[in-house]
Amino acid sequence: MSGQPAAVALGPGPTRRRAAHCTAEAMSMKVLVVYYSRTGTTKKAAETIAAALHNAGVTDVDIERIGAPGERKGMLGWLRAGRDATLKRATAIDPVKADLPSYDRVVIGTPIWAFTCATPVRTFCEQHGRDARQVAFFCTMGGGGDQGAFREMEVLCGRAPVATLALRERHVKQDDQGKFLDRAKEFGETIVSTAPGKPPDKP
Ligand SMILES: Cc1cc2nc3c(=O)[nH]c(=O)nc-3n(C[C@H](O)[C@H](O)[C@H](O)COP(=O)(O)O)c2cc1C
Repeated sequence: MSGQPAAVALGPGPTRRRAAHCTAEAMSMKVLVVYYSRTGTTKKAAETIAAALHNAGVTDVDIERIGAPGERKGMLGWLRAGRDATLKRATAIDPVKADLPSYDRVVIGTPIWAFTCATPVRTFCEQHGRDARQVAFFCTMGGGGDQGAFREMEVLCGRAPVATLALRERHVKQDDQGKFLDRAKEFGETIVSTAPGKPPDKP
């Protein structure tokens, strides 16, 4: 579906037990999960978080990948990605389909590159972060760099996140119950339990 972010497949309607956990605010909330992923780990985390938001009662969850033209595959791509992240460069990204100000929360996901956010996510935050009413951040990583990345994303978006989640790549790949699935669920619940944000400031 061009021109629109993908809606998360909702599956069967909420069960009675699940509905008991859903607040009226969560059910009327609109959330966008937007992410960049080079090799699929952050994509998997984004899809799991989108499902967790839905299970927390959000019926309107959209998901959009940040498209970034340019070769970042293989060893040469890895080296380029590391250099661009270290130098905090901007990059070209595809036009964003979602209308950010129309979402109550925008959840931004990044792989960690050179102890900071991936270059396409840096550019997304620079160009669009201030359009979001409220933000939450998540990352996937080998071992560290989440704090620096989240700090930079906060500055670029011009607002503090309502929640953050740092995940290890191996826990995501293994579907680790305690270190990935349960934490994604808690992250979704925290995002919906925060107070509504103000509309973005006019430029
Ligand atoms: C250029 C580059 C630099 C990286 N730097 C770090 C780092 O500083 N710290 C870390 O824990 N992982 C680092 N990683 C590992 C990635 O964060 C990790 O593999 C991530 O889960 C990949 O997500 P993706 O599959 O969505 O692209 C780096 C990966 C790349 C490609």
